[in-house]
Parts: sequence; C-alpha cells; structure tokens
Amino acid sequence: MNKKITLPTNSSMLSNDFVYGVATASFQIEGGKSSRLPCIWDTFCDTPNKVVDGSNGETACNHFNLWEEDIELIDSLGVDAYRLSISWPRVITESGDLNPEGVAYYINILDALAKKNIKAFVTLYHWDLPQHLEDKGGWLNRDTAYKFRDYADLISKAFGDRVYSYATLNEPFCSAFLGYEVGIHAPGIVGKEFGKKAAHHLLLAHGLAMQVLTKNSPNTLNGIVLNFTPCYPESDSQADIEATSFADDYFNQWYIKPLFDGEYPAILAQLPIENHPEIHEGDMDIITHPLDFLGINFYTRAIYRADKEEHFFQIDPPAPRTDIGWEIYPKAFTELLVSLNEKYSLPPVYITENGAAMADKMVNGSVDDQDRVEYYQAHLNAVHNAIEQGVNVSGYFAWSLMDNFEWAEGYLKRFGIVYVDYDTQERTIKSSGLAYKALITNR
Ligand code: NOJ
Repeated sequence: MNKKITLPTNSSMLSNDFVYGVATASFQIEGGKSSRLPCIWDTFCDTPNKVVDGSNGETACNHFNLWEEDIELIDSLGVDAYRLSISWPRVITESGDLNPEGVAYYINILDALAKKNIKAFVTLYHWDLPQHLEDKGGWLNRDTAYKFRDYADLISKAFGDRVYSYATLNEPFCSAFLGYEVGIHAPGIVGKEFGKKAAHHLLLAHGLAMQVLTKNSPNTLNGIVLNFTPCYPESDSQADIEATSFADDYFNQWYIKPLFDGEYPAILAQLPIENHPEIHEGDMDIITHPLDFLGINFYTRAIYRADKEEHFFQIDPPAPRTDIGWEIYPKAFTELLVSLNEKYSLPPVYITENGAAMADKMVNGSVDDQDRVEYYQAHLNAVHNAIEQGVNVSGYFAWSLMDNFEWAEGYLKRFGIVYVDYDTQERTIKSSGLAYKALITNR
C-alpha cells in the first residue's frame, strides 16, 4: 500500500497560495555540452578521481533535447512552480555578449512553463562557472563578481517578464568551501586561505546582481538560495557547545549574517589573517541589498565535538541515514527555521530544496520508494511546525524533479521523485512523486 503524505487539515500549507514545486539545475540535467562554453564542472569531471563513477555532464538527463517532454512531466505532477537554473556558459559568450541560441533555449522553456501556468523560479548560478573565468582566478578574482552582475543584467533584460522569481546564487557555501577550500567540488582548489575569499566575492556578486535585478525586473521575487546544515553538540560540555557554535558560524551563519547584518560572524577575528576575505569599502552595503525572498535548502544536520588542534571535529552521523550517508533528522529543519527567524528579520522564505537520496530499485516498471515518501512526510511536517511557530514560509520545492548528476557522486545517488534510466533516458514517476502529486492536487 502506498503511503500518503498528509498535513494537519488546518495547515496553511494546504492553502492554494502555498507554492509547491520541483527543482533541478542546469549542469545536473541538461547535457548538450557542445552547444555551450566549457564550465568548471566539465574540467573537474575530466580530472581523474574527482567524480566517484568517473562520469560527466555530457549527456546527463539529456534535458537539452528532452525539455518539452520534461515540462509535460512537471505539469503531470500538478506542481505550481519549477525551479531551474541557467547555464551561464550557455547564454553568455567569452566576450560577454548574449549567445542568442542559448537564450532562445531558455526562452522556449519559460514560455512553455507559462502556457501551463507553472511559475518559473530561475537560479542564475548553480555552480557552472564558465571555465574561461576560472582561468582568470574564478571566484578568487574580484572581477568575477562584476562579470556575474553583467550576466544577470543581460539575461534579465532578455527574459523580460517571463520569470516569477530570480535567485542570484545557489548555496554559495558549496561554491566557496567545497570548491575553493576543501576542493571536493569544482574547481577543486584546496587551502584554508581561499574559502572565505571566494565566499566574499560570491556574496559581492549576489549584491551586485540584486541591484540590476531590482532595476530590470522589479516585479519578480529576487533573492538568494542558501543551504544550512544545523550544528548540534555531541554533549552538553561547554567545550562541545563552543566548538559547535564555531562550526555553525563557519559553515552556516557566514553566508546569511552579511546579508542581513552587514558583517561576518565574530569568529572572523579568530581566523588567521591570511584566511580573511578582502573586504573593500562599500562591499557590505552592496551585500545587504534587501531581499524579496530567502531560499533555504535543507537536507540534514551535523554533530560536533571540541578538538584540540582544529576548532571543531565533526562526528560520523548516527542512523537513520539516506543513501548518501546523511542523517535523517527532521526536527533540525524546524529548529533551523525558527532560529533563523529569531536571529534575522527574514523576508518570505521558500524551501528551495529538500529531499533524499535513496537506494531505489526499479521492479516491474515501478519504483516503490516508501523510504523517500517517509522523508517527505517528516520534512513537510517539520516545515508545518516551523510555520506554527511563526516562520513565514511561502513555498516548498522537492529536490529533485528527477535523478541526475549528483556532482562528485556522479550518477550513483538518486534524489529524484522521478526515476531516470540513463541508458534509455526513460522517466518513471516513483511512489514519492505520486504521493507528492496527491498532496498537491488534493489541497
Ligand atoms: C544541493 C544542491 O543545490 C543540489 O545541486 C544537489 O544535488 C543537492 N543539494 C543534493 O546534494
């Protein structure tokens, strides 16, 4: 028997104003590599031992060719909105002009969504930096922030009024920390002195893009998408609590505090001077540009203990875990939303990603992922609980519409509510997709 996803009958998440959607990102689904410039993930995938299964984004889900069918699929799920990202190297040439073919590709998608009354939530940067910009230093080069502004300017003018919401960046933590500090994401740079510098240029890029989006596209919801992995101490000891608070500042608050308070967390003073970002006069004014919405991505929490050498040590996540090893702990979702709402004066919040990788099995033509249905049930409830405690949440997006290229994990981890057979490119809606659809359509 298929489990259902239910919410309390009085939940505001059952109102038709609450936006339900599915999310994807360009590099993870599109393929169509020969029709765009190379990006840092192409280079990373071509570097031996970076991506677990040695795969790349050359074909991915072939959404570059199958986008019309995929929009039918999205529509068949009954969702209100679709969150997609624009491939910067597909729409902007090396000399900084619009690439008309690339722009037309997205305009066709946006027009098809509009015909079906599906709101387009467009993310401008979901990690696929043009390689030629990386060759000049990427996010360690301040000039990349201005290049991003120019791209945001041109593309928002080209899209006109087809977009419902723009997010500047997706998860700048991942771009900065995973890409330029520990090197497990593209461009694979390693060094504690790089992460916070890259982060500052990303936030600057965000602020500069907000300026042009507000001007060119005043009627869209313009904001940013941040990810949070709430931090919990292993014990009640003062040392563990302090270590955990440091980790929270380093990984989470680092990206939100500048947006609302115009400053980095106070732990900045404890970081060696060579690890500091280069903050120019006026940068923080740019970064605090008011947001129409804040996108929040949540998957799991992390547990820390004090450590003599480093500021903190992350312990292995306890069970239950998803197929990617992340602990399933929905309570942290509620606590995160409530705590952010206490700390900052938040604009309307959209949950721009939430979901789970599970070890899906295709049996007789169907995928009965009851474990994922349970994950969605628990996490939608967690959002409901946060709303009950006063957090203004306006929408929720499942990650992901379909299985896709899971970055350094390649195609081995499946996050979709739709199964993708990568040999045939056949899509099959999983039980979780059907349960999500039932929740939305029975409102
Ligand atoms: C966050 C990222 O935005 C998305 O690209 C990724 O696939 C999911 N998390 C799962 O790791």
